[in-house]
Amino acid sequence: MFSKILKKMECKLGFIQIPSKFRPELIGGSKLPCLTTLNGFSAKIDKYGRLWSIYLKNRFPEGTVVNMIKKEKGYYVFPLNTCEDSTMLEQEQKDKTGKRNFIGEENMKASVIKPYFKYDSITIFNDNILKTKAIENNSIDLIVTSPPYDVDIKYENYDDSIPYDKYLEFTRNWLKRCYDFAKDDGRFCLNIPLDKNKGGQQSVCADITTIAKEVGWRYHATIIWNEQNISRRTAWGSWMSASAPFVIAPVEVIVVLYKKEWKKKREGKSDMTRAEFIEWTNAVWNFSGENRTKIGHPSPFPVELPRRCIKLFSFVGDTVLDPFLGSGTTLIACLQTNRIGIGIEIDKKYCDLAVKRLKSYGITQQKLDEVLQVASSDLNNF
Ligand SMILES: C[S@@+](CC[C@H](N)C(=O)[O-])C[C@H]1O[C@@H](n2cnc3c(N)ncnc32)[C@H](O)[C@@H]1O
Repeated sequence: MFSKILKKMECKLGFIQIPSKFRPELIGGSKLPCLTTLNGFSAKIDKYGRLWSIYLKNRFPEGTVVNMIKKEKGYYVFPLNTCEDSTMLEQEQKDKTGKRNFIGEENMKASVIKPYFKYDSITIFNDNILKTKAIENNSIDLIVTSPPYDVDIKYENYDDSIPYDKYLEFTRNWLKRCYDFAKDDGRFCLNIPLDKNKGGQQSVCADITTIAKEVGWRYHATIIWNEQNISRRTAWGSWMSASAPFVIAPVEVIVVLYKKEWKKKREGKSDMTRAEFIEWTNAVWNFSGENRTKIGHPSPFPVELPRRCIKLFSFVGDTVLDPFLGSGTTLIACLQTNRIGIGIEIDKKYCDLAVKRLKSYGITQQKLDEVLQVASSDLNNF
């Protein structure tokens, strides 16, 4: 195990230079370059003893002190804190029993919770967002999600028709958890209805936005998603009579929030085109909803929704979380845009569906090769 302070280029390009004195312990007799893993992600050690992985790219700010350890299945790296002098850290610690321990072991715990599915930069946890220990605090760059709407959708494992006050209590609890998971410059795209009339009229968007702000989230904007689907209407109220007509906007919204700072201080690579930027910064988005029967989930959103949010609000290589993964749509968008994607889904059946969809989107050996190619081309540019 060794500790070191990450330098600017290491953070930006996504590698860790293993100091010569630690190479016998950490690399041993392996012939370089060689392929390995880092925290479960594919990685490569080049002939100069630099360990490259997409996992590291823009993950930690410059100056972060990390511990690195080699285990049977590959390498593990854990942030300790940020500090300007590492000399005091370049030692192993011993706990009270004299057992060898390493600094930052607490940080390791979240990383070793067993995923339901993992392939390189994509991870699914079959877990409850209210209880999960799978996500480290202050580790997420962007959250994109669509929670249950409390409109009596028939999920396998979740009652979607609880009393509204209980629904808002549930909402407060998961919003708080997500707040803790986000980095200080972390952002949050929350897809919810504007309002609802099923089970009584409620101002869902206004209520959830208010709770999000109470929990600590700061407000940035609201995007109107015009699904162009008026068949979602459930009732007219009093037909052609002023007695009690129902008025409903056939739109959903994406509330855009952030944790502490909207402007990113670190540098990163953006991947949207000029046309996309111009179109998407107009906060009325027009594209169709997803077909439930085709997907096999009662309320999927189309890939276009997380794809736009991810490209507009995060850098390439950033970590994106969907705490209500459903059929896995957000992770498909992560695959398409080279982001690290993590999904939490309470229902095993939907986890299986997400895995099936991801596999059909090309999680194959080829994808692994591509990731390694990215690492090598970064190496050539360095
Ligand atoms: C609106 S759906 C998400 C659909 C998803 N955006 C997609 O494209 O398929 C909400 C999902 O949250 C899941 N869910 C409900 N309660 C949960 C909890 N406490 N933790 C994690 N997942 C939960 C449900 O099983 C459901 O699949």
